Amino acid sequence: MPTAPTIISKQLSIGPIKLDAPIVLAPMAGITNHSFRQICRELGAGLVVTELLSSHAIHYKNAKTFGMFDWTDSERPVSVQLFGGDPSLMAEAAMVAEEHGADIIDLNMGCWVPKVAKNGAGAALLKDVCLAADIVKAMVQAVKIPVTVKIRSGWDSKETTAIGFAQRAQDSGAAAIAVHARFASQGFTGRADWSVIRRVKDVVTIPVIGNGDIESAEDALRMLDETGCDGVMIGRAAVGNPWIFREIRALLDCRSAIDPPSLLERIDVALRHVKTLAADPNVGEERAVKEMRGQLPHYFKGFPGVTKLRSELVKFNLIDDIENFLHKAGSECR
Ligand SMILES: Cc1cc2nc3c(=O)[nH]c(=O)nc-3n(C[C@H](O)[C@H](O)[C@H](O)COP(=O)(O)O)c2cc1C
Repeated sequence: MPTAPTIISKQLSIGPIKLDAPIVLAPMAGITNHSFRQICRELGAGLVVTELLSSHAIHYKNAKTFGMFDWTDSERPVSVQLFGGDPSLMAEAAMVAEEHGADIIDLNMGCWVPKVAKNGAGAALLKDVCLAADIVKAMVQAVKIPVTVKIRSGWDSKETTAIGFAQRAQDSGAAAIAVHARFASQGFTGRADWSVIRRVKDVVTIPVIGNGDIESAEDALRMLDETGCDGVMIGRAAVGNPWIFREIRALLDCRSAIDPPSLLERIDVALRHVKTLAADPNVGEERAVKEMRGQLPHYFKGFPGVTKLRSELVKFNLIDDIENFLHKAGSECR
């Protein structure tokens, strides 16, 4: 007997916070700064997440970390992701982020890089779910805003920890759970196994946000359909392509695809991205230009001359030069 198609909801609430679309920009270190989050929100993301911030650094009032408390009203709702392995420090960090206007606090249980995991934080918490649950409880008790958790399938393929832990996280007061459907030991290799998202969805009542290998708007709909998850989270596919959020919204709204952005729109948004970053007093023009060297070429993926563009962009130190170059390259393409 054919199975009935999943009914995909366009609504997603995290605690009392109603998102205007069930589509989330994934936290990405070095990428999801204020400038990029703002662009993604404008182009359709229902929620944006900061990169991971260290609870230790917040405790010691590290100026660089406090500089990342850079969200503005235009991005709201904004979720602030924290990492750490000590319940009291995590509770304190959650309170500080709440005081600075965070709408949601997210616990990082997915980062596997040794700098984080060797200190018992990030994905290492998948190996100590009692401690992880204590951290969730401590954070939930410390703040009034919702606390969410972002996990991987497990530490390694010996155990799919996500299924059992999701229930524990819910019992500890988590308001939603995002699942990157890969084991920590995989890093970014192999393909995400979306069946884990489905299995997590089966055991909890809080919203489940699916993550891993969504490369297009069609993929996002397929994940919603196949796993029954309540929302989707997009990471790498949004880099240089924040229009993916607009495209997913169009598919959700009327099941029809919309045209990709024009070259002119790509140039405008790429320039806005670097200019807004440079305008941040904690960043400035020199650093903004350097940080964007890796990201700007992504805006022009698939266009002729993108390899030349990449090698040219590293030569510039000023936004004016980037602007002149992009406009000239753009007019040559037309
Ligand atoms: C450059 C980069 C930085 C990342 N930084 C974070 C982070 O700070 N916190 C986190 O939970 N995940 C981080 N991730 C993982 C993503 O949030 C996401 O789970 C992963 O990329 C899978 O989703 P995707 O296939 O849509 O990219 C990062 C990923 C990338 C590529």
